[in-house]
Amino acid sequence: MYKIAVIPGDGTGPEVIAQGLKVLKAASEKFKFKYQLEHYDLGGERYLKTKETLPDPVLNELREMDVIYLGAIGHPEVKPGILEQGILLKIRFQLDQYINLRPVKLYPGVETPLKDKRPEDIDFFVIRENTEGGYVGAGGFFKRGTPDEIAIQEAIHTRKGVERCIRYAFRYCKKRAQKNKVTLCGKTNVLTYAFDLWERTFREVAREFDGIEANYAHVDAICMWMVKNPEWFDVIVTDNMFGDIITDLGAMIQGGLGIAAGGNINPEGVSMFEPMGGSAPKYTGMGVVSPLAAISACQMMLEYLGEEKAAQDVEEAIKKVLRKDVKSLTAGKMGHSTSEVGDLVVKYITGK
Ligand code: IPM
Ligand code: MN
Repeated sequence: MYKIAVIPGDGTGPEVIAQGLKVLKAASEKFKFKYQLEHYDLGGERYLKTKETLPDPVLNELREMDVIYLGAIGHPEVKPGILEQGILLKIRFQLDQYINLRPVKLYPGVETPLKDKRPEDIDFFVIRENTEGGYVGAGGFFKRGTPDEIAIQEAIHTRKGVERCIRYAFRYCKKRAQKNKVTLCGKTNVLTYAFDLWERTFREVAREFDGIEANYAHVDAICMWMVKNPEWFDVIVTDNMFGDIITDLGAMIQGGLGIAAGGNINPEGVSMFEPMGGSAPKYTGMGVVSPLAAISACQMMLEYLGEEKAAQDVEEAIKKVLRKDVKSLTAGKMGHSTSEVGDLVVKYITGK
């Protein structure tokens, strides 16, 4: 019995999560696994009413779950940063979800802005360190608001944090068994301390993995190649901040936020899966946004739980919908409503 925490969140989060849950139900009936859902109303609405983001008793309940399924966090009336830090980053940090796993995969039938690139050219993973770097909140102001103001924000990279992330990337690459290539994305020419640690650790860990090519590229060059030669990549491993940036680029080349999903993973603990898109306030309640990113997040969650057959089936159903039914992933242009797309995925899973 899997214990799944559901945080639908704000805006269109609940609409897309509802579709993911439909798919989960269909997959569980077909593949005979059981789960129990626990819903949490975390998000902007709750914050506006109670000033609470993620209270400790709720966090402690989350610690007892197997996985967390998250919709979107973000509210137009809440100052940017409060919900992100108070909910999303707090969960990542407190549950030590040290990997952010982002498939960048162009499915057949999906439009990419990259001219002449086909599904076989865009098929790689970004493994982003998810608990350190520039995200740790180390720093402060001096003489804030005066002409002499100084702001310091430090990025922290630990040997342990870097090593476990890099090792995860190599293991993932080995398991995936495709191009057998891990690329470290860094900036050794400027960030000479942080990425010296990354590169040394990378070379050391690489020695444990025979048959996997280990190479290095600067983050700026990676941005160029993700556009010009995405077929070069298999697994990219990088730090928190660079990972944040290049995964948005990745989302766009795979067809946008209507399809991009990610996992916040603690391989020894509680992991969280989410669609990459935000809460999309302007589309909320209209039933026009694509639920396929949320359904893809559900698929990643199934794979993580070890329900590999179910995960494959869900992916096949997503692909079918993309090939046959959905005209575009842009909100309002799918040719179907959010819930109709969810129903189509379910139909391809159940065969009914
Ligand atoms: C992401 C998001 C978050 C991040 C924000 C919402 C804090 O952009 O998951 O990539 O920067 O990590
Ligand atoms: Mn981001």
